[in-house]
Amino acid sequence: MILVTGGAGFIGSNFVLDWLAASDEPVLNLDKLTYAGNPDNLSSLAGDARHVFVRGDICDRALLNQLLAQYQPRAMVHFAAESHVDRSIHGPGDFIRTNVDGTFSLLEATRAYLAGLSDAQKNNFRFLHVSTDEVFGSLGANDAAFSETTAYAPNSPYSASKAASDHLVRAWHHTYGLPVVTGNCSNNYGPLQFPEKLIPLIIANALAGKPLPVYGDGQQVRDWLYVGDHCSALRRVLEAGRLGETYNIGGWNEKANLDVVHTLCDLLNELAPERAPAQGAYRELITFVTDRPGHDRRYAIDARKIERELGWKPAETFETGMRKTVQWFLDHQDWVQKIQSGDYLTWIDRNYAQRSESHPSGSAA
Ligand code: NAD
Ligand code: TYD
Repeated sequence: MILVTGGAGFIGSNFVLDWLAASDEPVLNLDKLTYAGNPDNLSSLAGDARHVFVRGDICDRALLNQLLAQYQPRAMVHFAAESHVDRSIHGPGDFIRTNVDGTFSLLEATRAYLAGLSDAQKNNFRFLHVSTDEVFGSLGANDAAFSETTAYAPNSPYSASKAASDHLVRAWHHTYGLPVVTGNCSNNYGPLQFPEKLIPLIIANALAGKPLPVYGDGQQVRDWLYVGDHCSALRRVLEAGRLGETYNIGGWNEKANLDVVHTLCDLLNELAPERAPAQGAYRELITFVTDRPGHDRRYAIDARKIERELGWKPAETFETGMRKTVQWFLDHQDWVQKIQSGDYLTWIDRNYAQRSESHPSGSAA
């Protein structure tokens, strides 16, 4: 079997569902169920003996030792993390604990576990570390996209904690020979994404007739990848990635945030016209608000290495992926409503109440 950490979160649960749809190899899913972990994401696996869920913390070495000894996985796919940049600005402590200490703890537990395996088992084992393009920092408008050799320059507490985890993974390979491979992926979107991130937040707010908050001038650029494509890339890296290597994973979809919000509004006009604001169009809800401190201006991924070496390319375009995503959220309003209570409301108040409305020059919604 494989051990997945963070498999109740957005990408992790998509990965687990896709994995079990394509293979009968069981998954041991270790997740702490923080605010971002949602057992409902995995409800279709209820009663499926191929999925073993354990609620626990990746920082808990005793638990890790016990699980590794008991289940003897052949691979670990490490998603568990604190993942939201805005939350890292308000409270970086959890990011250091889970992303840095937690990864350290997994590496050490894996090292001890491998010491007890035969050479053949050791050679077959893989530690797949799931990371982000944000470790490379911010690009200027005309800079070349991030490649695997771009120097690390993280700017937020989130990206700094992920960069630290990448460095630990690299060092455990070079020093102890741990069989690691790392994926650095761009912004994901798709079903099951927690509605604190840009795309699901905009869809949820639009359907509720609430303002659509765009930070600063909305001209920050991200590369967007449909989550199912990230999952297929990770399966490919797990299968054939070279040990100790890193692979940049991206969708070749650079978009300014305001353009992403416009696309969402236009899809909603088409797919949910009955819930559009009284005046007619969802775009009217767009509201420019105070920018994020230290906001990275542009990310772009050069994904040629994974295509050249592993033959992976995204299957979805931005248009097909966004349409699927909006339709999924329209079909799963109950999933969204269940999340939008308690801690979620506290967060929304904390992140948006202090952001005053702003009017960047030249910005037309
Ligand atoms: P998420 O926040 O939706 O899910 C994180 C999951 O980890 C949750 O289920 C949470 O309960 C669990 N978790 C948190 N702390 C834990 C701990 N101490 N022990 C065990 N479980 C814990 O995150 P996501 O968007 O699914 O991202 C998954 C991974 O992919 C992260 O490592 C993130 O850095 C990386 N990544 C995300 C994106 C993106 O666009 N979302 C892009 C590139 C890379
Ligand atoms: P986000 O989904 O938080 O991902 P990340 O910060 O990891 O890239 O944000 C994507 C972009 O959208 C980022 O440039 C910040 C911006 N953004 C807004 O403009 N408004 C919002 O309410 C949010 C959550 C993000």
